[in-house]
Amino acid sequence: MSDKTLSVWNPVKTDRFLVGAPHYPEHVDESYWERDAERMAKAGFNVVRMAEFAWHILEPKLGTFDFDLFDRAIAMLGRYGIDTIMCTPTATPPRWLTVAHPEILRVDGKGRPMSHGSRQHCDTASPVFREHSRRITKAMAEHYRDNPFVVGWQTDNELNTSMPESFSKATLSEFQAFLAGRYGEIGKLNTAWGGDFWATAYDGFDQVVLPIEFGPTFPSPGHLQDYHRFLAFSTARFQHDQVEILRAVKPSWFVFHNLGGLRDIDFRGQFTTDLDFVGYDIYPMLYDEFQRLGNHAKVQALHLDICRGFSGNYIVPEQQSGFGSQPGFCTLTPEPGELRRMALSSVAHGADGLMFFRWRPAHFGAEIYWMGIIDHDDIGRHRYEEAKRFATEMTALKDKILGTYVRMDVGIAGSDFDNQEAHKTYPIGLPSPQDDAVLLHQYCYDRGIACGFIHPEDDLSKLKLLYVPHWVMWKDEWTERLKSFAEHGGTVVIGARTGTRNEDNHVIRETAPGTSLSQLTGVRVEDFGRLAAPGANGLFDVMERSGGLVIPPNKPAESHRRERRFKIGNRELVGGYFYENLAIASDVEVVAAWSNRYAEGQPMATSRKIGKGQVVYVGTYLTPDLTAALAERLFAPVGIEPLLGDLPEGVEVTMRMNDDRRLLFIQNYTDQPAAIGGVPAGRDLLDDEKPVAGRLDLEGYGCAIIELAG
Ligand code: GAL
Repeated sequence: MSDKTLSVWNPVKTDRFLVGAPHYPEHVDESYWERDAERMAKAGFNVVRMAEFAWHILEPKLGTFDFDLFDRAIAMLGRYGIDTIMCTPTATPPRWLTVAHPEILRVDGKGRPMSHGSRQHCDTASPVFREHSRRITKAMAEHYRDNPFVVGWQTDNELNTSMPESFSKATLSEFQAFLAGRYGEIGKLNTAWGGDFWATAYDGFDQVVLPIEFGPTFPSPGHLQDYHRFLAFSTARFQHDQVEILRAVKPSWFVFHNLGGLRDIDFRGQFTTDLDFVGYDIYPMLYDEFQRLGNHAKVQALHLDICRGFSGNYIVPEQQSGFGSQPGFCTLTPEPGELRRMALSSVAHGADGLMFFRWRPAHFGAEIYWMGIIDHDDIGRHRYEEAKRFATEMTALKDKILGTYVRMDVGIAGSDFDNQEAHKTYPIGLPSPQDDAVLLHQYCYDRGIACGFIHPEDDLSKLKLLYVPHWVMWKDEWTERLKSFAEHGGTVVIGARTGTRNEDNHVIRETAPGTSLSQLTGVRVEDFGRLAAPGANGLFDVMERSGGLVIPPNKPAESHRRERRFKIGNRELVGGYFYENLAIASDVEVVAAWSNRYAEGQPMATSRKIGKGQVVYVGTYLTPDLTAALAERLFAPVGIEPLLGDLPEGVEVTMRMNDDRRLLFIQNYTDQPAAIGGVPAGRDLLDDEKPVAGRLDLEGYGCAIIELAG
């Protein structure tokens, strides 16, 4: 593993803003190629991405390579000043490979092998598949070593997006080998997984099974945690095989991956340290209607802020341009003006490069209605004009934008693989740390407060407040970092259940939140229990999925729901999801107290002064009301204020900055004009450097980048 430091404050090391589109010359008759290149150049594109699904063309038969089509496509684009990012094509192995080696197919939890015919059906843990992945990577790398237009590589395509798990024979034996390496002797594994519970112990690593859900009931959380650790390990290993070859063949190439679903990848581990930077594909309209965050601008901001938390700025290798669909779903469509607005939002949240998915739509296959920059009839309409405007703007402004980081006053602890997984192994109806944190993110987003995700091991000094959302697996060294942050004036807020399990997913034997956090917070958790999620009936039941008992939804009376209320300041609010009853040290101040039922008068949230700052403990989960109450109390004293004096609804604002400059990115994400007030004095870089102070008017989907004076 490299010793590269992963930090949310890192810009991408690049001196040009990569802008262009994923391009599939294999889908386009060659008679169109020159005009395509010409139009890309006129749009100001400087790069395309190619070949991620073209293994069958590059190697039509085992060991017979044919690079001709891509050589010609790259050369044609190169003639018009467009460079190429090549991809290793391992998301879609050719049919001859799975005919010869059906054992490389993934197998689902019901024992069903996946099939040729779509994509990501092969098992990245399989040694046989890895051997072929290395072969094609080496052949491509050596072929393109001296091609001046090939400037970098993307590994595979959205690893694990379709299906991270596998229950194949290959996965089983690789899992067993991983465990033998991790534990050395089987007794240690039995202790870690709790082998004396339900007689789940093993006599040797070769007896270990894969954790099948409902086979017939629940596997141990330790077993599940290690299975997901293994998936992350083998995904990173699969990518490492490719990176090693690419680096050896030509060290000056940049290498990145385009993240999609974010499952079973530890982005703060080797997976990311192996890369020059990460790429994050942004399709906010895929989530809008499902996640109920209100609108897709919020989804986009949330996803990109989460992604930036792993290792800092990134590129967007794919951004939705138009109507999008596969046979099983379709998304809403960006309106005229929105493609540019969405692209500028990506930059506002940390993109140092961006490609529009895709140059042209396909006329065949499972994505015929994913619209690109050019339409099916070969005409470039408003999407072409907007992409052109964006590309021209970014190329002109690259020296201002590159080298800056995204400001965060409020940090949310994020990017921790073990904690996200530990939650999933035993969720008891509680929101995941990230889902809980969404409420705080949304609160800040709606008010124009600089907010994002950060790992506690990162540099916390630029933050004013850090919220830790229910991280059950805690390391004592993180307590030290929080303490030092508070001593220097920061506010730390720690949510219920933090620190309650150890690395093996066992509940700790000390009183929660554990020795070091109790010392820091002055809090001991004496008792805990579930509360109904807002609007739910208080029963968390996943048996339905296994065909078990299903209780019909109802709305029980308050007394039956055992609703818990608390008072914070002079407001009484209803708790959601979880309660803790806290015992506190003498120097701890009560911020909120439970106000009904048997716990009336007992502390719910507390605060303790540490150096120049404070540490707040909250013995429940966030609700929108609690988030607002905490923010109203905690933000102003540490100088957390909106970036703009008067932010109307439907406008988002972030700041990118470094020691030399501060850039306010303002986007109107509605189709109606917006009048923004309280804008600090500066010049609008998207409007001929026009001076701005106080008021700014933006048309529907209008954007501004204000370089602040002084
Ligand atoms: C991405 C994927 C692309 C394309 C796109 C639209 O997740 O990387 O290959 O499928 O979605 O569905």
